[in-house]
Amino acid sequence: MAAFDELAGTNSCDNPLFSDVLLRRMNRRGVLGLGAGASMAGLCAFTACAAEGTPASLTFTEVPHGIDEQLTVPDGYQYQVLLRWGDPIMDGAPAFDLHKQSRVSQEQQFGYNNDFIGFVPLPAGSGSSSRGLLVVNHEYTDASLMFADAPAANALSLEQTEVEIAAHGLSVVEIRREGENWQVVTDSGFNRRITPLTPMRFTGPAAGSPRLHTLDSDDGIKTWGTYGNCAGGVTPWGTILTGEENVDAYFSGIAENTDEAENYRRFGMGLNRRSWGLHFPRWDLVQNPHEALHVGWIVEIDPFDPDSVPMKRSGLGRMKHEGCNIHVGEDGTVVAYTGDDARFEYLYKFVSANRYDPDNRSANMTLLAEGILHVAQFNEDGTLRWLPMIYGEGPLTRDNGFNSQGDVLIDARKAADLLGATKMDRPEDVDVNEVTGHVFAMLTNNSQRTAEQIDAVNPRAANGNGQIVEFWPESGNHADETFRWELFLLAGNPAEDDFTAYHPGTSENGWLSCPDNCAFDNLGNIWIATDGAEGKGIADGVWAAETQGEHRALTRRFLRTPVGAELCGPFFTPDNETLFCAVQHPGQGSGWNNPDTRWPDFDVAMPPRPAVVAITKTGGGRIGS
Ligand code: FEO
Ligand code: CA
Ligand code: CA
Repeated sequence: MAAFDELAGTNSCDNPLFSDVLLRRMNRRGVLGLGAGASMAGLCAFTACAAEGTPASLTFTEVPHGIDEQLTVPDGYQYQVLLRWGDPIMDGAPAFDLHKQSRVSQEQQFGYNNDFIGFVPLPAGSGSSSRGLLVVNHEYTDASLMFADAPAANALSLEQTEVEIAAHGLSVVEIRREGENWQVVTDSGFNRRITPLTPMRFTGPAAGSPRLHTLDSDDGIKTWGTYGNCAGGVTPWGTILTGEENVDAYFSGIAENTDEAENYRRFGMGLNRRSWGLHFPRWDLVQNPHEALHVGWIVEIDPFDPDSVPMKRSGLGRMKHEGCNIHVGEDGTVVAYTGDDARFEYLYKFVSANRYDPDNRSANMTLLAEGILHVAQFNEDGTLRWLPMIYGEGPLTRDNGFNSQGDVLIDARKAADLLGATKMDRPEDVDVNEVTGHVFAMLTNNSQRTAEQIDAVNPRAANGNGQIVEFWPESGNHADETFRWELFLLAGNPAEDDFTAYHPGTSENGWLSCPDNCAFDNLGNIWIATDGAEGKGIADGVWAAETQGEHRALTRRFLRTPVGAELCGPFFTPDNETLFCAVQHPGQGSGWNNPDTRWPDFDVAMPPRPAVVAITKTGGGRIGS
C-alpha cells in the first residue's frame, strides 16, 4: 500500500550501514557501474548461467507496458472478476448498495482493498484445483472512493467509520470451478468475515504481558480483530497466516504521552489519520494507551472452522509485517520467513521448537506458538547470518530495557537494532521456492537511503525501484544460522537507470519497478507483483521469470493493472491452471466524481472497486507456458 508505506521508516539507530560493502563485493563481480545491457551480462556472470539451449518454460506472449483503465492479460488468456468490494459472501447477505452501506451489510460482504490471496483446496488436503476456500486480506479502506462526498479520513461519521471497520480484515469464501468459470458459493458453511472486532487470542512469549493489558483485555491474552493485513501465507497444515502491516494509521491521541512512547515513535503511531479513535475509545491512545501493542503481529487462522478463534503468534515478533511463508525441513522443523515493511527495517525467520507431523493437524496448529525468532545480517562475503533474538543473551537484557522474552518480541525492532541486523530497503514478501529450496525477498524501494548508507544487499542510494535478494542454506537445512545470498535482480528502467540488473534477453516490456508480492509455480518460476511502478511511467502488474539456468531472471510482463492499482495476491491453484490476483486500489487518488478508471464495473454510478480475478488460459492448461 503505497500511501501509508511512504509514512514508514523511522529507524534512526546507528548500526553500521557498511557503505563500502557493495563496492567491494560488486566490483569483484564485475557489475558495478555498468549500464543497462552490460549490467545484465554482469548479473548473468554472478548467477552461474547454465549452458545455452535450454527451452524456456515461460512462453506466453508478453503484455506491453502502458497505463490505461483496463486489466490486461496476455493473448490466449482470460480473466474473470470473481469477488469485488461489496459482493455478498453469505447466504442472505444484502446486495451491495453504494448509497445504503452499513456495518451489518459490510460484515456479510467482501471487504475493501484485497491484498493477500490464499487458496486452500476442499476437501482439506485433497489437492483439488476446482474447489476450495479463497482467503483474502482486506488491507485498508479509502473513504474517498467508498462514500459520496466523504469528508477527510479522520472526520468520518460514526456510520461511515463502522463501515470502514467492517471492510477491514479478511474474507473466507468457498469457490468452485465449473468448466472455464469459477463460482462463488454464497451458501457455503465455510464462508466467514473476519474483522477488527473478531475475538482472537495471543499465544507465545508475549501473551499475558502486562504491556498487553488494555481497556478490553484484562489478561493480555484476549484480543480483538486484525487490520492493516497486507500479505500472508498458507501453512502446510492448511492454516492462513496474515501480516498486520500499517497498523499505525488507526490510532488517535498523542503517543508521546503514553508509557509506550519509544515503541510508538518507531511505528509512527497516533497521527490521527483516521476517525476510529474519534468514535471508539479502543483506538484512542489517551483512553487506551496499550491498544496499539495489540497489532503488528502475524495472525494464524483456521479457514476450515468458521468458529475458530484466530491466534496472534507473538513468537514471530511485532513489526509492520508484510506476510509470512513457511518451509518445513526434512526433520519437520518449521521455519517461517517474514519481513518488516518500512525503510531500514529488517528480515526475520522463526524456527519452531517442535516438529511438523503430517498426520497430526491439531499438534501442527501450535507449531508457531513456540520457537526462536532470528533477524538477518547480510555480509559482503555473500554470507547471511541469522541472529537469534533471545532475552538475556547479548544486548537483550534489562540494561537495554528488556525484562522478558515478551519484551524482546514486542520491541523486536529495537532488539534487531541492538543485535546489528542489516537495515533493508523495505522488505515486502519473503517466500520459499520449494523447487530449489531458495528463499526470495522483495525489497520494494527506499527513497531515503543515502550514498553513505548503501551496502551489498541494498546497493543503491535514493532507491526508487527496489531489488530482489535470494538466499539459501548451503546444507539445505533452513534452521541453519548461516546462509548464502545473491541479488536476483536490480529493478528499474534500464534506459533511465544506470545501475539495474536483469537477464540480457529481457525485452523492453520486461523491466519492472517496486517488487512487492511474489508466488512460485510448480516449475520453480517466480511470479513478481509490483506496487509503485506507475511512478516510473508503467502500470503495476505481474512479471514472471525462471529462477535457474540460462533464462534465470529473464523477467517477462504477464499482466497490467488498471490505472492507480497495485497488484497483490498472486496465488496459483495446485494444478497451476488458475492464477488468482488481487487488484488493489484501482483509480486511487483520482477522486469520486471523475475517477481515472471505473474498473471492473465501468458503470458511471459505481466507483472503481478493488476485486479479485481468476486468470485462466483460454481452453485450459498451465499458466505461463
Ligand atoms: Fe501493504 Fe508492504 O505493502
Ligand atoms: Ca507495498
Ligand atoms: Ca504488499
